[in-house]
Amino acid sequence: MTASLRGRHFLSLEDFSGEEINYLLQLSTEFKRLKQAGLRPKNLEGKNIALIFEKPSTRTRCAFVCACHDEGAHPEYLGKDDIQVGKKETMEDTARVLGRMFDGIGFRGYKHETVETLARFSGVPVWNGLTDKHHPTQVLADFLTIIEHFGTLNGLSFAYVGDGRNNMANSLMVGCAKMGMDFRIISPKELFPSQEIVDISMNFAKDSRSGILITEEIEKGVKGADVIYTDVWMSMGEEAETKKRIKLLKPYQVNLEMMKKTGKENPIFLHCLPAFHNNNTEVSREIGEMEVTNEVFESKFSKVFDEAENRLHTIKAVMVSTIGAR
Ligand code: CP
Ligand code: NVA
Repeated sequence: MTASLRGRHFLSLEDFSGEEINYLLQLSTEFKRLKQAGLRPKNLEGKNIALIFEKPSTRTRCAFVCACHDEGAHPEYLGKDDIQVGKKETMEDTARVLGRMFDGIGFRGYKHETVETLARFSGVPVWNGLTDKHHPTQVLADFLTIIEHFGTLNGLSFAYVGDGRNNMANSLMVGCAKMGMDFRIISPKELFPSQEIVDISMNFAKDSRSGILITEEIEKGVKGADVIYTDVWMSMGEEAETKKRIKLLKPYQVNLEMMKKTGKENPIFLHCLPAFHNNNTEVSREIGEMEVTNEVFESKFSKVFDEAENRLHTIKAVMVSTIGAR
């Protein structure tokens, strides 16, 4: 294990070296083992943690809350209607107030600049639990799941299929490039990632001697992939785009035929969740289309619930290491 991450914010994987990401993954593995053994080390005894959530969440919120309880900290959930921020108070002022009371702050919201402001003004570690631009705590859980399955990250091929310019695509591209994984985005041209994030990731890929491919062609993109990843076609806040997105993304649905096109015997399927994979939710019935077939979602390839569980262990590692308890 390596250098201390004490006092650092966790806003984007751009700010962390491959070695530091590996450290967080090793710590996550250790916390998972302890939890499975029924042990709660209480590294955060007596700490207070604020959780500001502008958007809804199941996994991220619960991972923060359960990690706090396991480690002896007190979590305070601040939903969009609970505090004045954005209405009667600026984020600068809110950050300075919360920083006087709390030892760390988790944030989920819209603009990435908001979490950056929170980090700049609070004086305590701030953790990004999703913005429109990045979702780095999710990527740590994705990486832990891949390591559990393949024993490594370096040298594997990762194919992200679908909306190539959303928070997951951005964070996975940065993360895979840092960790030496061959990364592909397979999406329609209209949904290719921004040149800015591609250039940033290309530089990391050069350092880790890996590659990045952005393509519209499914066969070319998924060939040789060890991991097929997708996400919802409309991220939170993009509901008005539904009609347009379905038209663009329908050919990019993950199905068994696509899994076979990898040419690999045992590729894995990952999805950050929540996923549309059957018609058993209000919204999936309304939309009538799914980014992944139920057949793949429920198949032996799918590791999505290991991945969801790993949100807990990885978020715990981020909180404990940046608060400086490990
Ligand atoms: N994957 C993820 O972030 O899930 P939630 O939106 O439920 O937190
Ligand atoms: N891209 C999705 C991720 C959800 C975890 C969204 O932002 O809604």
